[in-house]
Amino acid sequence: MKSRIVVSRELTPAVMSRITREFDAELPPPEVMSPNAIMEALYATGAMGLVFDGRTRFDAAFVQALPPTLKVAATFSVGVDHVDLAAVRAKGLVLTNTPAVPDASVADFAFLLMLAAARRLAEYDATVRSGQWRRIFAHAECLGSDLAGKTLGILGMGRIGQALAHRARAFGMEVAYHNRTRLAPVDEQGAIYCRFLDELLPIAQVLSLHAPLTSQTAKLLNARTIGRLPDGAIVVNTARGGLIDDEALIAALRSGKLRAAGLDVFEGEPHLDPRYVTLPNVTLAPHMASATEETRTAMGMLCLDNIAAVAAGRPALTEVRMTSIPQPPLSTPSRR
Ligand code: 8YV
Repeated sequence: MKSRIVVSRELTPAVMSRITREFDAELPPPEVMSPNAIMEALYATGAMGLVFDGRTRFDAAFVQALPPTLKVAATFSVGVDHVDLAAVRAKGLVLTNTPAVPDASVADFAFLLMLAAARRLAEYDATVRSGQWRRIFAHAECLGSDLAGKTLGILGMGRIGQALAHRARAFGMEVAYHNRTRLAPVDEQGAIYCRFLDELLPIAQVLSLHAPLTSQTAKLLNARTIGRLPDGAIVVNTARGGLIDDEALIAALRSGKLRAAGLDVFEGEPHLDPRYVTLPNVTLAPHMASATEETRTAMGMLCLDNIAAVAAGRPALTEVRMTSIPQPPLSTPSRR
């Protein structure tokens, strides 16, 4: 018998066709289902599995209200900052995420933002599109900055941070990182380990954020920490908007303390501080770092593999271990 599941929003065609073949599920809307609609569907169908994403806040009240028939909740994300982990544990629910599969596409995207920021791609693109390109640029006009020879500071050296380091080395960058634990030399690949964030900041000519959003990392990039970056540094964020104090970042981008930024994630997204769109030295993207056909399909398949494993009485492949993750600041609006 097919396992009954609820899927909160449409996934790639390959994932949707597997759902149709292997599971008993109603086809979800392209837009995300509301929390109420998800709850109603779970009660109406008695589903044992749920696929959801960062658009659905799994706060304590929501988790407590989930029906006892639900055994496994598979979030279509690496991040779990939208989930109240203590409530999930208390409920006895299996929570799974999608680690590893988006590493390459997110690292690619972080590098893309770094290049775009350093080479002023958004400004050049806007110049051409708006018909402002009326004469050949002077040789010293509107210049970018090379990445080769610069030091990339990586905050959070997990799998994505390491994949980014690999790309940066190929572009002739030095790599330094700050992480709770130091990597083994084989994974470090010559990168400089900074035990404290304050050691990393002064050498990070480009800083890329790859830390989860937790109570300890919220607004980690703020006026004080930005002040410790070298003048003219570049900041890239493909992790979570809540890692940055927008007020401080905008002030630094306006004053020239920072040369540029590349941002894929925002506090309170899809709403973002409107001042960002007025800044020429910011490249903006709507949380799309994992958005390739291959990666989104792999993420969806992993969600289904996890649900299938639990349905078959086996352990989930990528269960979120609740112990080591500090509680995220779930009082702020949900992000994805
Ligand atoms: C989103 C992400 O999940 O994996 C994460 O934590 O933020 C992204 O991959 C994806 O955009 C779907 O919401």
